[in-house]
Amino acid sequence: MITSKTISFRLTEYKSVEELKQDDRELVNAAKDAARNAYAPYSKFKVGAAVRLENNIIVKGANVENAAFPSGICAERSALSNSTSNYPDSKPVTIAITAYTEDGITREPVSPCGNCRQVIAEEEFRNKISIRVILCGENKIQIIEKGGDLLPLQFSRNYLKLKSL
Ligand code: THU
Repeated sequence: MITSKTISFRLTEYKSVEELKQDDRELVNAAKDAARNAYAPYSKFKVGAAVRLENNIIVKGANVENAAFPSGICAERSALSNSTSNYPDSKPVTIAITAYTEDGITREPVSPCGNCRQVIAEEEFRNKISIRVILCGENKIQIIEKGGDLLPLQFSRNYLKLKSL
């Protein structure tokens, strides 16, 4: 028997940061600030991410490129490895992401790459929480309530039979 399934998720769109609640506006500003420290001489695409932890601390990350291209790291993973390494006891609750070309902030929101989605999903899994994702462009802001929704059929520890970790 053949079964067909549709996987969908909901996101909320805003036109301006002014429409966001204060906490989220602050996080978006931290992501914009983080992008300043991006090291992106090859792509000239500066990405900033900011993670809000349960204890309300904000941890920033930027993309750091390398002449050996695959050795570079994205802003989202930079921020999440930083928060996990430095605040192992506080769970990430929201991540905001912004990106800049040489012309300034991108008009459309930039969405995390597959590797970063997988890392967001792992953080959700191990912390047993949903991580809100805020994608911030100049003309549009998108909020996804559970980062893992961006990666349907994601690989997880369930496949390794390590549920009890
Ligand atoms: N990049 C990020 O930092 N985050 C993403 O989600 C997508 C891409 C970086 C990687 C690289 O330094 C540059 O943007 C161009 O791909």
